[in-house]
Amino acid sequence: MAELRITPLHPVLGAEIEGVDLGAPVDAPTRAALGRALAEHLALVFRDQRLSPAQYLAASSVFGPPMEQHYSQHNMPDHPLIGLIWHRNGQQPAEQWHTDHTNRERPPAATLLYGIEIPAAGGATSVASMRAAYLGLAAEERGRLEALTTFNGLDGHADTRAEDREKYGAPVEHPMVRMHPVHGSKAVYFHVSKATHISGMTPEASRAYMADLLDRMIRPDLVYRHAWRKGDVLVIDNRATMHRAHGDYDRRQSRVLWRIIVEGDRPRLA
Ligand SMILES: [Fe+2]
Repeated sequence: MAELRITPLHPVLGAEIEGVDLGAPVDAPTRAALGRALAEHLALVFRDQRLSPAQYLAASSVFGPPMEQHYSQHNMPDHPLIGLIWHRNGQQPAEQWHTDHTNRERPPAATLLYGIEIPAAGGATSVASMRAAYLGLAAEERGRLEALTTFNGLDGHADTRAEDREKYGAPVEHPMVRMHPVHGSKAVYFHVSKATHISGMTPEASRAYMADLLDRMIRPDLVYRHAWRKGDVLVIDNRATMHRAHGDYDRRQSRVLWRIIVEGDRPRLA
């Protein structure tokens, strides 16, 4: 087994991992240790990686099987399981707090981002612990959320192709609080623009409640802000976090990340 060194990056979440070359095959004990580290720290950073698309895909499978993304127009032509995040081809930075692909029955356990071109300043990715956010709510509201579900789809996502909406747009119901499959801790779970509504609420009231929750729950002390360096791989645990991009960089500079999502379990509360 590789000798892993795990250094926390923030009091609440995030850790840097040293001692693993993601460009080489990762042995079974190291894979298991990395899976446990992700569940514990919720965001992992590997520095100075030099990966081909095939090596990156192989490395991502440490965290689960790579799955198709519904922005097929941004897929890498020869490696369609890798999506290109690049704000010069019409994409807008995802500045709203969210967790990825909640319109899937088995949403991604993790999202991997690999820094290919990084602007000189700005353009960070922030990750918030929704486990800590859950614990920060009053007991009464935790109970309320535990009784609610969201219905998720691709309605209103004009940036998706008709073929992707056809494949991945059918409504999917998820609990608003989910238990982590590795250790059973609870986290608040929803996507404010993928959820068409919350059970028993109108779409308008649902959106207002989710926006209010985000405002109240995501306090600065629950957020790890990742300042990118070229060659970083950031792995985000989607089961217990939300994340957002920061668009605060000079658009004459390029910001290119390669994204992979890996399949997880169906979210459940018990
Ligand atoms: Fe995302």
